[in-house]
Amino acid sequence: MKNIVILISGRGSNMQAIVNAQIPNARIAAVLSNKHDAAGLAWAAERGITTGALNHKDFADREAFDREMMKLIDRYQPDLVVLAGFMRILSPAFCAHYEGHLINIHPSLLPAFPGLHTHERALEAGCRIAGCTIHFVTAELDCGPIIAQGVVPIIEGDNADNIAERVLAVEHQLFPQAVADFINGKLKVDGHRVHGGTSAAADTQLLA
Ligand code: GRF
Repeated sequence: MKNIVILISGRGSNMQAIVNAQIPNARIAAVLSNKHDAAGLAWAAERGITTGALNHKDFADREAFDREMMKLIDRYQPDLVVLAGFMRILSPAFCAHYEGHLINIHPSLLPAFPGLHTHERALEAGCRIAGCTIHFVTAELDCGPIIAQGVVPIIEGDNADNIAERVLAVEHQLFPQAVADFINGKLKVDGHRVHGGTSAAADTQLLA
């Protein structure tokens, strides 16, 4: 049985998708947050999952918060740490500590649009597609080896909220699959490439 620790900052719908997938040979050891009032914590606690939170504002700097977060995470002896809407930039020490065992979901088709406001930026750039990327985390923000990507169309009249909703539906399918692939030892990192991952397209029809 492999232990998974999931980090969230908000509603945690991706965390819920991973929990609901009931991945064989995996146990959700804890759901942790940098916000005590993250809605996803209550959802997990109601289902008997161990939860915890450390408020990043209680710490002098990023490194001090990350050190305590690592201590908290390591209590659960994780084989995999999953960032599911964890809205913190992580220190190099944190990334190094979990290297190869830390994955993130990002709401764009990386390497396009790292950082925030990805759907607004995709619209502004005139993109005809948007999507999400699941990747191993390295110290460089949103730049680690790509495990899986999902694509959705951007259609006439879309705004960032429509796109976010469309992308989120793909996230909820792709993220549990990527976690299962990791747990089953299917993912092999080879430089910047990952073998054994998944790609998903929401729709292959041509759209106006
Ligand atoms: C998702 O869009 C994810 O790609 C991004 O933050 C959002 C988290 O949503 N990193 P949720 O908390 O999983 O519902």
